[in-house]
Amino acid sequence: MNKINIAIDGPAGAGKSTVARTAASQLQYVYIDTGAMYRALTWNAIHHNVDIQDEAEISMLLKKTDIELLPSLEGNRVFVDGEEVTSAIRSNDVTAAVSDVSAHEEVRRQMVKKQQELAQDGGAVLDGRDIGTAVLPDAELKVFLSASVEERAKRRHLENVGKGISSDLQMMMKDIQVRDGKDTERDISPLVQAGDAVHVDTTDLTAEEAAAEICVLARERI
Ligand code: C5P
Repeated sequence: MNKINIAIDGPAGAGKSTVARTAASQLQYVYIDTGAMYRALTWNAIHHNVDIQDEAEISMLLKKTDIELLPSLEGNRVFVDGEEVTSAIRSNDVTAAVSDVSAHEEVRRQMVKKQQELAQDGGAVLDGRDIGTAVLPDAELKVFLSASVEERAKRRHLENVGKGISSDLQMMMKDIQVRDGKDTERDISPLVQAGDAVHVDTTDLTAEEAAAEICVLARERI
């Protein structure tokens, strides 16, 4: 059977990772969490005391950093230079800094190249902010996932509580709005729905329902 690539974009907390992972598992495709790659670089920058605003330093660090994603039932396990950082990249420090790191043009250029290599054989579901517009502009299926800010904040809050990460719902709403602003207003590859993407609003959908919708759309294209 023909294996297509699926691009899933949307703002923080729209359910991208759970939906993308579930759809990938049902289609027996590979799931690639591109946000985890930006988070891994951000974690490494903090770890090495590199100024996250310094584009030259950050892109040099990226050139020297080995970021590896391994499939797992919960999503991608993430390794930086062989060290597992799967939980560490979800910390509040990394979350607060990642949008600044990902706004650097040279960082995006290198990341996009890595992501295109990971998807070159087809049969991949990538989630992120610029997959349909920059990483895989020719993806056979593009989906833009959204949900209300309140619902997205609630989901991230419950996710943090479940993982034992300290979390405050009101703060979470503010953080999400700040991150949405940075991601949609940056100069390079801002978060925007690709013209040919299917919009799926997940506010009133479970992740399973949204994934099922994506599988239907994918099978129409396989
Ligand atoms: O998806 P997640 O919330 O983990 O992504 C973390 C951050 O990484 C986003 O807020 C965004 O700044 C950046 N990102 C990006 N492009 C992608 C994926 C993530 O700029 N393709």
